[in-house]
Amino acid sequence: MREFTPEYLDHTRRGMWESTAALSPLDLGSRERILDVGCGTGELARLLDAETPGEVIGVDADTELLAVARERTDIPTVAGDATRLPLRDDAVDLAVCQALLINLPDPAAAVREFARVSDDLVAAIEPNNAAVEVSSTVDAEERLEREVREAYLAGVETDVAMGDRVADLFEAAGLTVVDRRTYRHEKLVEPPYSEPAMESAARKASGAGIAEHERELRAAGADYDELRAAWREMGREVVDEMGEAAYRRREVVPFEVTVGRV
Ligand SMILES: C[S@@+](CC[C@H](N)C(=O)[O-])C[C@H]1O[C@@H](n2cnc3c(N)ncnc32)[C@H](O)[C@@H]1O
Repeated sequence: MREFTPEYLDHTRRGMWESTAALSPLDLGSRERILDVGCGTGELARLLDAETPGEVIGVDADTELLAVARERTDIPTVAGDATRLPLRDDAVDLAVCQALLINLPDPAAAVREFARVSDDLVAAIEPNNAAVEVSSTVDAEERLEREVREAYLAGVETDVAMGDRVADLFEAAGLTVVDRRTYRHEKLVEPPYSEPAMESAARKASGAGIAEHERELRAAGADYDELRAAWREMGREVVDEMGEAAYRRREVVPFEVTVGRV
């Protein structure tokens, strides 16, 4: 199982659901019991909890991430595998996940479990990592991010670009797809820089960010040490431009929101 750090999840989810319009087909206002599968540190679970009058439960296979979720929220969480959920049939009226299916060797098995434990809706919010767009005032950043992304996509063992194919998995599990839409998560960095933006630049300059993907980059046959050195140099350029208030970066990650009915 691929492991995630709380810092990575904080960084990738920051500001993601400032607008929740793309979640309207989940009908959160009328849910009684929602299961967030692969809840991690509870990024989505907290949002669901704020938007529904019902109860939210989180499940994840990583007990360390669940410990962080428990520090951050009172939402009940339980350790469990997405492909063998520790819930009875029809226990909830919405089973949902965010960035889970792309990390599973057998995402179809998880979708079948979602359909078993929900008596109404099933939803998945999954990114298409092959369609991420980055533009930056640091030229090397655009080029290196593309290079690293392509190597990562080649080296990762699961289908991290499946976003727009989730509907096929739903149909194969006997669900009726009732809505699908693309939510473009846009992240802007511009002056005055926020604390997280400065931390992110420091992570580029130190090589901490790229180290999260070392295994996949090596598996793709990339020269990791060379890539890391170029990445750190690019990070230092970013930090320098920030010092002159000249740095600007825009990233868009497309997430497919797929909703099915049991
Ligand atoms: C990219 S993170 C997403 C976390 C959270 N949903 C979010 O959007 O911030 C993927 C999560 O899926 C969990 N996960 C991976 N394989 C799993 C499995 N077989 N069963 C349950 N959880 C799993 C990981 O531990 C991690 O928390």
